[in-house]
Amino acid sequence: MKRVHYFSGLTISLFILLHLFNHLFSVFGAESHLALMDQLRILYRNPIIETLLLSAVLLQIISGLKLFLSKRKLAPSGYAKLQLWTGLYLALFFLIHVGAVLTGRYFLALDTNFYFGVAGLNTFPLNLFFIPYYALAILSFFGHLAAIHIQKMKAAVFGISVERQARLILIIGVLVTMIIFYGLTDGFRGIEIPEGYDVLIGK
Ligand code: HEM
Repeated sequence: MKRVHYFSGLTISLFILLHLFNHLFSVFGAESHLALMDQLRILYRNPIIETLLLSAVLLQIISGLKLFLSKRKLAPSGYAKLQLWTGLYLALFFLIHVGAVLTGRYFLALDTNFYFGVAGLNTFPLNLFFIPYYALAILSFFGHLAAIHIQKMKAAVFGISVERQARLILIIGVLVTMIIFYGLTDGFRGIEIPEGYDVLIGK
């Protein structure tokens, strides 16, 4: 179960890094985000790659929940505890997030682009849910990475101890979250959502 989780996790992480890079690009405006997504889609919407990715997400959720239930009994602390709880959040987030994207695409016939992603984030009171929902997802991803890093890494790099490397990953996670939120909300001024996405925000 651990091996399955490790390899499906690696597959998903490659996509997540591209996906977060795409979201970071929103600091240059919605058009830049849309243009980069169009390019990235050529890769991850390839039927073989997307099937592989969605299968990895499913495997990750199932193996992650099983690992959570068995490890929880050991009452872990420190980074092991962080790994456990960020993993649980990521499993639930994947279920809702990927479910929402597939529902948007196949049932609502929407282009699940920048505007699909940010509709709730820029609409009150939906943003009261979407701000913590997305922020915790990005923070959990980096938290989970930091916890794995501290287990796998044995030595200091350029004189930076493994503890400090893990802390650096957490700090990068906080910075990435802040920059993405700045971009996805047009510098916190809010983004005008096109009419086609009204169904998402109850207009
Ligand atoms: C600010 C946060 C986020 C927003 C606004 C967002 C938005 C989106 C959007 C719009 C799509 C559809 C992409 C497309 O149709 O090409 C998508 C897909 C996806 N996202 Fe996110 N996302 C966010 C964070 C995350 C995070 C943190 C993860 C993982 C930890 C994640 C995992 C995924 C996955 C696995 C897909 C499915 C890809 C596929 O269609 O095969 N997302 N997201």
